[in-house]
Amino acid sequence: MEGLIDEFGRRFKTLRVSLINTCNLGCVYCTCGTEDLKDNLTISKAQGISAGDLSAIIKKLHRVLKLDTVRFTGGEPLLYHQLPEIIRSTRLLGIDNLKLTTNGLLLENQAAALAEAGLRSINISLDAIDEEVFYSVSRRHGINRILKGIDTAIDEGLEVKLNAVIMRGLNENQIIPLLKFAFERNIRIRFLEIMAMGHLFGKADEHFFSQDEILSEISKGYDFERLERKPCSTANYWKTTSGYTFGIVANETEPFCGDCDRLRLDSLGNIYGCLSSNSPVSVNHIHDDAALIDCLQAAMSQKQSLKFTGSNLSMLSIGG
Ligand code: 5AD
Repeated sequence: MEGLIDEFGRRFKTLRVSLINTCNLGCVYCTCGTEDLKDNLTISKAQGISAGDLSAIIKKLHRVLKLDTVRFTGGEPLLYHQLPEIIRSTRLLGIDNLKLTTNGLLLENQAAALAEAGLRSINISLDAIDEEVFYSVSRRHGINRILKGIDTAIDEGLEVKLNAVIMRGLNENQIIPLLKFAFERNIRIRFLEIMAMGHLFGKADEHFFSQDEILSEISKGYDFERLERKPCSTANYWKTTSGYTFGIVANETEPFCGDCDRLRLDSLGNIYGCLSSNSPVSVNHIHDDAALIDCLQAAMSQKQSLKFTGSNLSMLSIGG
C-alpha cells in the first residue's frame, strides 16, 4: 500500500461518525432481547469524547483525506445534543455532502434545525409500517412518530431515504407495504440483508433473508429491471416499470467491499477501516499528520478483500 490507497485502489472518501453509543429502540439485530428497555440502551458505559474533540478529529481527517461526504450515525444520533453544532462545524470545513442515519423517532421536532444547520440527506431506518410488526422488530412503540418525522423531513427539503432490514419470520410481509409507502412519497427505499454483527456474530442466522428472496417478494407486486451499480455504492438498484427506484444492500450475497471508500469514527475517538474489524485505532490524541497517516494506514489494512465477515461490534457503537 502506497500513501492512503490500498492494493485495490481504495481510498477513504466517506467518513461515518458515530456520535453516541446509545439508542432509544431495542431492535433485535442490535440487542439480544434480555436488556432492560425502561431506559435508552447503551452498549458500553464508556463516555464519549466531547463534541469539540470529535470536531477536531473530523477536521484533522479532512485535512489529510479531503473527504467528500460525512454521515452522522450512532447509536441514535438524534439523542446527541450538539448535533446541529457538529453539522455546522463540519460544513464550515467545506464538506457539503452531510448526511444522517437515524431511526426517526425524534425527527419531527429536529428536522428544521438540522436542515438549517446544513444537513442534506437523511436515511431513516424503518423496518415495518405495521405497528405490531414494528414493535416485534424494535421492541418499542412509536411508529406514528417516525412516520410524522419522515413527512416533516421531506417538507423541510431534506433528501429522505428509507432503510429496512428484512428478517425471515419477522417482517418480510412488510416489503410491499414499505415499497408502497416510499413510492407514494417518491422517496428511495433500500432493503438490507441482515449482517452478522454484535450478538449475531458467528451465529447461523435463522432470520437471514437474501436479496433474491427480497426480489421474489417484490415481483409479486411489481415488474422491474436492474440498474447499473454506481461505484462505491452500498446498494444495488432496480427500477419498476412505472419508474420508481428501490435498492437492496446485499452485504452477504453481493458484498461491495471491492470499492468501499468508507472510514468510521466512533464516539470515543477511534477509527475503523471496516465494519468487519473490531480493532479500534485511537486518533483522539494524534496531532501531527505523519502519525495520523500511520493510524489511517492501520485502518486501511482492516478492509476486507472480498467479503463482509462480520464482527462482534454492534451497530449500537459503530453506526451504519
Ligand atoms: N444487519 C443489518 N442492518 C443493520 N442495522 C443495524 N444493525 C444491523 C445488522 N446487524 C441497520 C439499521 C440501520 C442501519 C444503520 O443499519 O437498521 O438502518
